[in-house]
Amino acid sequence: MLVNSKKMLLNAKKKGEVVFHFNINNLEWTKCILEKCDELKVPVILGVSESAIKYMGGYDVVASLVYSLIVDLEIKTDVCLHLDHGKSVESCMRAIDAGFTSVMLDMSNKPYQENVEKVSEVVKYAKNNDVSVEAEIGSMGELKNNQLEKGTNTTLEDCVRFVQDTKVDSVAPSVGTVHGIYKGELNIDYKLIENLANEVPVPLVLHGGSGLDIKVLKKCKEAGITKININSDIQDAWSKAVREFIEKNKEVIDPRKIIGAGFDAIKETVASKININK
Ligand code: 13P
Repeated sequence: MLVNSKKMLLNAKKKGEVVFHFNINNLEWTKCILEKCDELKVPVILGVSESAIKYMGGYDVVASLVYSLIVDLEIKTDVCLHLDHGKSVESCMRAIDAGFTSVMLDMSNKPYQENVEKVSEVVKYAKNNDVSVEAEIGSMGELKNNQLEKGTNTTLEDCVRFVQDTKVDSVAPSVGTVHGIYKGELNIDYKLIENLANEVPVPLVLHGGSGLDIKVLKKCKEAGITKININSDIQDAWSKAVREFIEKNKEVIDPRKIIGAGFDAIKETVASKININK
């Protein structure tokens, strides 16, 4: 069933578990993730960035794709369709109008007051449509040409105030992770996560979950993270499998066979992350 993320995250928070957000890029990604999460009987958040939405054709295409797959594949588990890193109030509204059940407005690179004002606008619109809202505070590090550009972690005070000021349903505080597969030592502030989990009344989201050892993800969960976002690790696993298949099967031209050569890799990656709740 398609739901917003409120109940699934609050349930997970109560049980000390994590709900995974996996980014989708196309029909095949969506199908593999839905099938695996349904098989494992775990709720899932399908994250879609604005660029992935553009790639797939638009907000309505994405919403109808997800709605239709849930029906045709007879998916029983709870599924949330989430706009990942929405860049403007308008794009969040567009997603809500198309049938997304959750949106993130990322104004983390803007001054605090502007972040609060824009996110509050989205919260107001979302509440009227039973849609959940995530927002980000602090600035995350970025991988640029394989070099880490450090971000600035949020402070406990700012994060508490931000949640009060905006009334968001979940918050992504920067705590030391970066987007992409960062191979060096990361400086995740577990103490900050613990303090945030004690003081912030809504579920905490960890962006940049790829490239992190399962033990690190578990430690984040134990410190108080409720939602973990994974994108690059699935892309990495899929592309390695497809590359290997193409090299070994140069005569194959059927795109279903080529693209399909990476399905097991997508599903195995999804399952390996979900394992941290065991
Ligand atoms: P990764 O690519 O590091 O998994 O980050 C995903 C993410 O945070 C999407 O919002």
